[in-house]
Amino acid sequence: MVIDLRSDTFTLPSPEMLEVILTAKLGDDVWREDPTVIELEALAAKKLGKEAGLLVTSGTQGNLVSIMTHLNRGDGIVLEAECHTYLFEAGGFTSVVGAYPFLVKGNNGVMDPKDVEEILTRPYNEHCVQPKLLCIENTHNTGGGAVIPKENIDTLAKIAHENNVAVHIDGARIFNAAIASGTPASSLVENADSVQMCLSKGLGCPVGSVIVGTEEFIHRARKNRKIVGGSMRQAGIIAAPGIYALNNMIDRLAEDHLHAKLITDELKAKVPNIKIKPVETNLIVIDLSETPWTAQEIQDRFEDKGIKMASMGKYLLRMVTYFGISKEDIDTIVATIPEIFQ
Ligand SMILES: Cc1ncc(COP(=O)(O)O)c(C=O)c1O
Repeated sequence: MVIDLRSDTFTLPSPEMLEVILTAKLGDDVWREDPTVIELEALAAKKLGKEAGLLVTSGTQGNLVSIMTHLNRGDGIVLEAECHTYLFEAGGFTSVVGAYPFLVKGNNGVMDPKDVEEILTRPYNEHCVQPKLLCIENTHNTGGGAVIPKENIDTLAKIAHENNVAVHIDGARIFNAAIASGTPASSLVENADSVQMCLSKGLGCPVGSVIVGTEEFIHRARKNRKIVGGSMRQAGIIAAPGIYALNNMIDRLAEDHLHAKLITDELKAKVPNIKIKPVETNLIVIDLSETPWTAQEIQDRFEDKGIKMASMGKYLLRMVTYFGISKEDIDTIVATIPEIFQ
């Protein structure tokens, strides 16, 4: 039996999800006639406190469509320097949208409002690109699953809006942030103009993301989704597990967070000089640079024991807990740690 900690994208649909797929009411969603998609979009919008929602194929497409809808070619986009949209979405915001990045180095993904303000309040100058959108990733993936606190988001959004700049939240794991911080997701994104949230990560669905915003924003986003090939027909088979997940899979994220903490506590107790980013949710990012081992060596040793993890660099490893990784799996990992690091 393999225990796969590479990503929470490895979740498999539960029997309940497979059942709702089989019984979903379907129609042609390009004609707005799939009742299950309509229900999911309304539910996602409600959970995030926005007027309307739009089902998209993936987190990458959700971010791209949102950015397309906010920006014109040549506009500037402010991003945290190690965010997913900048590093891992194939640069779609440059090649497809034609946007120009302004990067802000955060502290585990948390941007200092002063750094953002410095960029957004530069006086108009015809030589320079005008920033028109600020993106915030919550939780922050390479930041070790860090929760971006509500106060930080609200301060950043205030600065952005005072300077005529819209705010988009990449909330691939926004419900992890909500559960870990005890703040409702709708409150975390209260001051954002758009949000994309993934169904296919911690929530356990096989496919899909939803973007939310005002009716007017979603109306324009629908056309941009069409342009990038994301309009789907009987998409209720994707939406049905999404509805199930939004109703049943959010509170259980606390279990994944606890599991990540159990692994982290054992690593800290048993491995001298290991550095681990603060673990607030379901991601564990380990830095081995001050230990005798490289990431590859440790990854191979774990793999020999049937435990998979992802390498993020010469000394960086990532482990992710999710639905499908049981307490028994965690006990196995914890028991294996002393054997691996010797
Ligand atoms: C923070 C964040 N945003 C966006 C995405 C992209 O999602 P997808 O893989 O569904 O395109 C990911 C994927 O891991 C992510 O971690």
